[in-house]
Amino acid sequence: MTEQRTPIHGAPLTLRTATEGDYPAVARAIQSWWTLAGLDTASAARERAALVPRLWLQHFATTSLVALCDGELAGFLVGFLSQDRHDEGYIHFIGVAPDQRGRGIGRRLYEQFFALCRGANRRRVRCVTSPANTLSIAFHEAMGFEVERTGDGIAKADYDGPGVARVTFVRSTD
Ligand SMILES: CC(C)(COP(=O)(O)OP(=O)(O)OC[C@H]1O[C@@H](n2cnc3c(N)ncnc32)[C@H](O)[C@@H]1OP(=O)(O)O)[C@@H](O)C(=O)NCCC(=O)NCCS
Repeated sequence: MTEQRTPIHGAPLTLRTATEGDYPAVARAIQSWWTLAGLDTASAARERAALVPRLWLQHFATTSLVALCDGELAGFLVGFLSQDRHDEGYIHFIGVAPDQRGRGIGRRLYEQFFALCRGANRRRVRCVTSPANTLSIAFHEAMGFEVERTGDGIAKADYDGPGVARVTFVRSTD
């Protein structure tokens, strides 16, 4: 992907493909952004960090994106083209810096990933979130994702193991 520079609310935003060299900043962000935003504790931040070890930017960097504002990491998306489902892409993780939220950076990252999927003939994008993450559910609905409902509601019980429910989303790349 070529680097894109677009002014966003006055400050220039650069969106580009991630590299392994971005990993330290992404890892710092994962440990601090949610805590700074008052969303969780330091130990929850470490648990979250375990979801994105370095391997993601060693093996999936070319389908992952970073957004930079004034040279600082403002957001990132970790995604991949499914190896087994040849018409699907998958978004594993997204984060936008607390002081940059609500400015369209999450939308830009997702739309760039949808375009990447279209270019690789992927017709759908999937992702999951925790049922407690109402912000994430609202964001995904705003981004055009459909919640895959169960008979009982939106949470799929034991989806990621005993006691670990998830909400699953799917969206066409059209
Ligand atoms: C979720 C997150 C990535 C959104 O990023 P963002 O840059 O603030 O989002 P945008 O400004 O691009 O908003 C995109 C759309 O989502 C909607 N949206 C964003 N945050 C929202 C919120 N808190 N509540 C309701 N809708 C929201 C916006 O209204 C917007 O819709 P619109 O374009 O139709 O107006 C960001 O808040 C974040 O990093 N949150 C913490 C991490 C997290 O929960 N990640 C998801 C894990 S799966």
